[in-house]
Amino acid sequence: MKIKACIFDLDGVLVDTAVYHYKAWKRLANELGFDFTEHQNEQLKGVSRMASLDLILGWGGIKGMSNEQKIELADRKNTWYTEMIGAMTPSEILPGARDFVIACRNAGLKTAIGSASKNTPTILQKLDLQSLFNAVIDGNSVSAPKPDPEVFLKGAEALGVSPADCVVFEDAVAGIEAAVNGGMKTVGIGSPEVLTKAEKVVSGLDKITVVELDTL
Ligand code: G6P
Ligand code: MG
Repeated sequence: MKIKACIFDLDGVLVDTAVYHYKAWKRLANELGFDFTEHQNEQLKGVSRMASLDLILGWGGIKGMSNEQKIELADRKNTWYTEMIGAMTPSEILPGARDFVIACRNAGLKTAIGSASKNTPTILQKLDLQSLFNAVIDGNSVSAPKPDPEVFLKGAEALGVSPADCVVFEDAVAGIEAAVNGGMKTVGIGSPEVLTKAEKVVSGLDKITVVELDTL
């Protein structure tokens, strides 16, 4: 293969946690006296926890919260979120995702996770996926959020592969931008109308084969 490694975003690529993030943020918004739509929730994909909170408070017209208050709110949301992901099982891995990662490894490619989520270790453990990745770079080890390429550059470095030899799989616009900014090849998971900067877009990892990666 011409490429050497695959770096996978977690939420929305390997597992659909968006529904749990949505439920937990919605519960927080409701406690604060307002609501937001599933459509607005789309804007939170790939966005870090504190940046998501800022967006949501903006939607509710809530201004002037101290940093301490914001941290308390984000912690409250995360407690509900972790309760929900604590009950996840490998049955919630997205169709074809596990098999595709295994096929990459069988083809001699290195594999890594590149996610904004600080809950990545818990989710990987719940889904029993840890052993399929040579490196895990997540919200606990990066400081700059996507579209900054930090998370993916650290992934490539951890794998010992140059960015140009990596393919990044992402469902978020900011995530595709991060990979492009890092000089990597990109596969979008979702719709081509949304992920306009991705080199190739498929609806899921069950719709792509490893040999196709060399045509990117
Ligand atoms: C992913 C999700 C976002 C989430 C972020 C941080 O990028 O797509 O919706 O806000 O991770 O997740 P965390 O688990 O750290 O709150
Ligand atoms: Mg994602």
